[in-house]
Amino acid sequence: MAQPGGSKPKRKVVDIHTHMYPAEYISILSSRTEIPLVRTFPSPSSPDPDPRLILLEAELPALEKALQDPSAPVPGRPLTKHFTSLPQKLHFMTTHGIDISVLSLANPWLDFLPASEAGAIAERINTAFEEMCSSSSNRAFFFFAALPLTAPLETIVSCITHVSQCLPHCRGVILGTSGLGSGLDDPALLPILRSLADHNLPVFLHPHYGLPSAVYGPRAAEEYGHVLPLALGFPMETTIAVARMYLAGVFDAVPELRMILAHSGGTLPFLAGRIESCVLHDERLAKEAEKKKTTASRRRRRSVWEVLRSQVYLDAVVYSEVGLKTAVEASGGGREGAERLMFGTDHPFFPPVGDEADSQGEWESVRLNAEAVKRALGEGSEEAELVMGGNAIRVLRLFE
Ligand code: URA
Ligand code: ZN
Repeated sequence: MAQPGGSKPKRKVVDIHTHMYPAEYISILSSRTEIPLVRTFPSPSSPDPDPRLILLEAELPALEKALQDPSAPVPGRPLTKHFTSLPQKLHFMTTHGIDISVLSLANPWLDFLPASEAGAIAERINTAFEEMCSSSSNRAFFFFAALPLTAPLETIVSCITHVSQCLPHCRGVILGTSGLGSGLDDPALLPILRSLADHNLPVFLHPHYGLPSAVYGPRAAEEYGHVLPLALGFPMETTIAVARMYLAGVFDAVPELRMILAHSGGTLPFLAGRIESCVLHDERLAKEAEKKKTTASRRRRRSVWEVLRSQVYLDAVVYSEVGLKTAVEASGGGREGAERLMFGTDHPFFPPVGDEADSQGEWESVRLNAEAVKRALGEGSEEAELVMGGNAIRVLRLFE
């Protein structure tokens, strides 16, 4: 419908990368003595104690120091209402012109739960997400469910059936890179990936574990904050996880599987050519490919590029025009490539520094991602509008 004055109708903006921790998850973290955990420290600036979220292995040295020395800097990050409150999420959406959010549990999901508890907790956490989504009357929320990956296979598969059939706002699942504990190239994960594909539930793949702390060097813990684990550990983790899936033939084994990769696929768009070349020049893989030609299946391994352009979508959380253009090119380029990218914010991570507790204004991290889309694809272009919302609405069926 034309707008008064002949201007274009406003297309919906969709944030597909936006996290929440329901109350039950926070109480689980608060009862823990090992990471991930929530721990309260005296606040330097307020009489109220300061609850901190400590999630990453790279945060362990700071946690240990703070526990021994009350004058040491507090570890982790502040657990603000941005992590837990739906009204706060709505306020953030209004501030940034976001119409629809596809919520997901933040890392490390349910990966650390005892096997005997994981299934029941998953059911309650996913129900909490469904309730958040249905409490909003204007279809502002959908969600990616979390899976009880430490539980027995039947429990995981019945969770998939449950979220698909009983939770109408569920549009996929969020998965870390550890799978059942041995990574996403683990053959034991195939029935789960098949079940997800059969239920038309895309996998939103998100990092958490990073790289071993030793690669960041002895100065990192004291001097470099979160920069190396978040800027490099997270993207390399995602890249390695997907490369392992590719090498194990997972995409060929489950051709209906759809993956949405966080942070524009880590470094995958930039390194896909190198991965492809290393595959082509590897003696062992070449021999195996030769053997396959003579067997009945005659199945050719598809190239990394073919997989990227048929089974993979990327979020647009890359913070630069250069990164976004690379992601679009790796996804097929032009309109075809732009159809595989989806805007995200990574809220509530990366709040404005110094204002973490309140952060009610515009977030620089969001502005950088929105600017990158405009710069890479042209402000107001059809391609930019697809990335900002149209693709998510189509791929995730947000109006069905
Ligand atoms: N973004 C996330 O999603 N998780 C983190 O731990 C940090 C940044
Ligand atoms: Zn995230």
